[in-house]
Amino acid sequence: MYIDVVTIFPELFAPMLGVSILKRAQEQGRVEVKVHNLRDYTTDKRRTVDDRPYGGGPGMVMKPEPMFAAVEALETLSHGIRRRADRSECQIVLMAPQGEPLTHALAQELSGLRHLVILCGHYEGVDERIRSQIAHREVSIGDYVLTGGELPALVLIDCVVRLIPGVLGHQDATREESFSNGLLEYPQYTRPATFRGMDVPTVLRSGDHEQVGVWRRLQALARTLTRRPDLLSRDTHGPRASSMLTPPSQEATAVKPWRNAKGSASAGFRPPEVDKGATAVKPWGSTGVSRNG
Ligand code: ADE
Repeated sequence: MYIDVVTIFPELFAPMLGVSILKRAQEQGRVEVKVHNLRDYTTDKRRTVDDRPYGGGPGMVMKPEPMFAAVEALETLSHGIRRRADRSECQIVLMAPQGEPLTHALAQELSGLRHLVILCGHYEGVDERIRSQIAHREVSIGDYVLTGGELPALVLIDCVVRLIPGVLGHQDATREESFSNGLLEYPQYTRPATFRGMDVPTVLRSGDHEQVGVWRRLQALARTLTRRPDLLSRDTHGPRASSMLTPPSQEATAVKPWRNAKGSASAGFRPPEVDKGATAVKPWGSTGVSRNG
């Protein structure tokens, strides 16, 4: 896969692209990432990339000329976007807070492309002609506004690249993780079996793979229902999944075995998600912060 990024801050990318799985994926030739400085496509002495908005208002808007020139230059590359018409091969994505939300499903779709071009917006926005004439789609990483599209672009690259077949050695790693099956991930444990009075659930040490599977699925469902019920209503699990679960008010008790708080208070440690009363579910862990405030 080829990824081209157009940005006014190319130096932000090297640190992330040069470590861990992203680095290895490039070394293995599974992905080639090139970062292009938008200012290289300006024609004036000051390398201007923005201008005041027509109609007035605060802030600056990214000019169309450099972005059009950059994308046209990419078209001349051998792997280039000459195939723009075929969206299953190549897509140009503009990172923008008003874009479609980045989800696992979208990352999965983009990981199947041959060529992904990512445009990073900046300032108060980008000229509408960039949106309408260049970008195939706009993608947002969340309902908040960042100072630019660079961090969102890195988020997109990270979650797309790890889904390219062969990038993660262990393919099950993506199959089982949060969101890949529409559910949040079940709780994970490693050694020691008992740590500061907190035991690993017995079933996980039983060697009974079927029971482990059932336990994990129930935990994933319970966790999703408690923290992100919106995911369950999306479809794939439907009524069957919901009927496997107790209502949220009983869930804390029902799934208590994995919330083993034994001895945790005396150890001065409160594991995430333990709720002392066992009646109030605190979906976001020990702070008790709820999504609604
Ligand atoms: N640029 C600024 N904020 C953004 C966001 N939330 N997602 C994508 N691009 C952005």
